[in-house]
Amino acid sequence: MKPVPAYAPLLTRYETMPYARTGKSGLLLPRLALGLWQNFGDVDLYPTGRSTVLRAFDLGITHFDLANNYGPPPGTAESNFGRMLRSDLAPFRDELIIATKAGYRMWPGPYGDLGSRKYLLASLDQSLKRMGLDYVDIFYSHRPDPATPLEETMGALAHAVRSGKALYVGLSNYSPEQTTRAAAILRDLGTPCLIHQFCAHMFNRGPETSLLPVLKDEGIGGIVFSPLAQGLLTTRYLNGVPADSRVGRGAESTKWIQLTDARIAQVRALHELAQKGGRSVAQLAIHWLMRHDTVTSVLIGASSPAQLNENAQGIESYQLTAEELAEIEKILASS
Ligand SMILES: NC(=O)c1ccc[n+]([C@@H]2O[C@H](COP(=O)([O-])OP(=O)(O)OC[C@H]3O[C@@H](n4cnc5c(N)ncnc54)[C@H](OP(=O)(O)O)[C@@H]3O)[C@@H](O)[C@H]2O)c1
Repeated sequence: MKPVPAYAPLLTRYETMPYARTGKSGLLLPRLALGLWQNFGDVDLYPTGRSTVLRAFDLGITHFDLANNYGPPPGTAESNFGRMLRSDLAPFRDELIIATKAGYRMWPGPYGDLGSRKYLLASLDQSLKRMGLDYVDIFYSHRPDPATPLEETMGALAHAVRSGKALYVGLSNYSPEQTTRAAAILRDLGTPCLIHQFCAHMFNRGPETSLLPVLKDEGIGGIVFSPLAQGLLTTRYLNGVPADSRVGRGAESTKWIQLTDARIAQVRALHELAQKGGRSVAQLAIHWLMRHDTVTSVLIGASSPAQLNENAQGIESYQLTAEELAEIEKILASS
């Protein structure tokens, strides 16, 4: 007798989430994607992570973003996601776009970091094993390696596709100039760059004018990470630092969160503006990024299904009015 699947996804899951074409490719991605950088490692509660991932799929979020080093400890986000695939999502593999990356320190010695062919391809094999997959949909170079020829790193990505272990390739944290060069190499190798993953949010606007024009010219899709500034652009920190928040838990990455009085005042003003339009401040921050047509997808993190519910609500009518956009400019200029 066939085992009964533990999870049956909602039949309504494709009714509200908008999907966009990734650059000039044929691949549609959900405008909201879920990343497993934090909250899905062995230090976290597996049942919460599982219900968050399953809630995402029920909301039409078909794209899950991982990397070899996500956890902590490194590797455990992939092994926990692999467990969810086995127990719940395996029957829906063809409805999922699963990404992983290599580029940061993963194992000791000279072959466990950066951008050599040796590291990238060994790491991809390890990621596939941890997730129990034959292939990933997107394999990224997680960061540029100044000491390895770009041709070698791009050659490793193209090889991953030729060997059937990845369907598409992407770049992350590459500068506009590095992106142009890498895209040309990938084109010559017959494996066009699908997507570029970069950090942008209301308090980090550089990529809007530096990177997005390059992505448009190259026909590469953009996926924005940390769109909520790791939680700062939500109501999380409006009344102090909750013990269960990313800052409260003392996550190392929070050294990048600007938890100053001036920033909190801006978030409060954004929150009030959002409320007037019937949105939450998190929704405002997400919808604001979605106004760029080069931004295929906004890649959020979440520590609970409730956060996902909030962030996905109203995604189908994301357009902000000219007045809201002008008001946001005023608030952002007030720092
Ligand atoms: N390529 C790269 O180098 C790179 C680097 C960083 C991230 N990424 C990718 O981007 C993904 C997202 O990054 P991120 O986690 O920093 O994104 P984010 O969306 O800016 O921050 C997510 C955090 O914000 C808080 N949050 C989210 N929704 C909330 C809500 N409605 N109300 C209150 N708090 C809310 C939660 O923090 P609490 O834990 O406090 O609840 C959540 O964990 C990662 O998982 C990863 O896939 C890639």
